[in-house]
Amino acid sequence: MTTEPLLSVRDLDVLFDTARGRVPAVRGVSFELAAGEVFGLVGESGSGKSTVLSAIMRLLPGVAVANASQMNFQGSDLMSMSAGQLRGIRGTGIGLIPQRPMTSLSPVTPLRKQLRWFLGDMPQSEIVDLLDQVGLRAVAERLDGYPFEFSGGQLQRLLIMLAALARRPSLLLADEPTTTLDATVQAQVLRLILDLRDRLGLGVVFVSHDLGVIAQVCDRVGVMYAGRLVEAAPIGELFDNPRHPYTQALLRALPSRYKRGERIKVIEGTAAGANRLPGCAFAPRCPRAEAMCREQEPETRSVGGALVRCHFPEDAAGANKPKEAAA
Ligand SMILES: Nc1ncnc2c1ncn2[C@@H]1O[C@H](COP(=O)(O)OP(=O)(O)OP(=O)(O)O)[C@@H](O)[C@H]1O
Ligand code: SF4
Ligand SMILES: [Mg+2]
Repeated sequence: MTTEPLLSVRDLDVLFDTARGRVPAVRGVSFELAAGEVFGLVGESGSGKSTVLSAIMRLLPGVAVANASQMNFQGSDLMSMSAGQLRGIRGTGIGLIPQRPMTSLSPVTPLRKQLRWFLGDMPQSEIVDLLDQVGLRAVAERLDGYPFEFSGGQLQRLLIMLAALARRPSLLLADEPTTTLDATVQAQVLRLILDLRDRLGLGVVFVSHDLGVIAQVCDRVGVMYAGRLVEAAPIGELFDNPRHPYTQALLRALPSRYKRGERIKVIEGTAAGANRLPGCAFAPRCPRAEAMCREQEPETRSVGGALVRCHFPEDAAGANKPKEAAA
């Protein structure tokens, strides 16, 4: 018997209408998430990670056009849901930790009042208990303050509390949830997310550009480049046998892999405009590119335990390894 995935995204495209015309931000993204699984999304700035989360939450701005052959949450099609059905699912079914905490809170309303908008008439003792779980017990007395009176990390933890704890969703979309936090609080928050996963079977899509953080919390990871999911694999497989040249370059650029004073191999060039080139978007930066890469866009194929969008994915034995990486 096959169990239905908690979330199933197939062929998701998102385009934005801009002054320069229609610009693709997400192209043909597909992945599935089981209950109790943490799926990481990693990729450089502008690769489309937040746009994928907004599309799942059906919170894209009016200038966006989204299409998908399937976007199911617990078997129901998110794309065809009415505004009322979506309101019923947001918060209680799917929780979102937004990337920028300040833009999610009203700057002119005291936090206590904003908490009440989310939590209704929840007893104060339960609110203090929730605050305690995200390390915010100390601010319970200061809730009459406005958002600008709290640090970015405190507001981030408050939003984590609202998204992940207050209404107990079964799916959590976490957009860079720990980027603004110091190392101690970051570890606390990661533990909290894993604890919720273990206790409640929470499924999590965890966006980060920090592969170190991804390695700590994720079961599987998807690597995005110029709006495409270029590689998806179980976390151990991705770190041990990266198969897409971009994934390999990302791993080579990890500072933790270098000794003090050693020069880090950065990825030369930028992704700007890559999604408007014919062929593979990574070709201008790829050490393994051949003529066909510039003409024909690669399809996703299964290689070992990974899904890879590349004409020449590396196999586990190291075939196709670019000279520079093999050195
Ligand atoms: N409202 C919008 N109008 C036009 N283009 C947009 C809009 N929002 C996002 N984009 C574009 O879509 C692309 C993907 O953006 P997105 O915010 O999803 O990237 P990201 O991977 O989350 O980046 P970061 O790591 O910086 O958060 C970018 O090129 C961005 O400029
Ligand atoms: S398709 Fe070609 S250019 Fe693109 S990542 Fe693979 S080898 Fe490099
Ligand atoms: Mg983002």
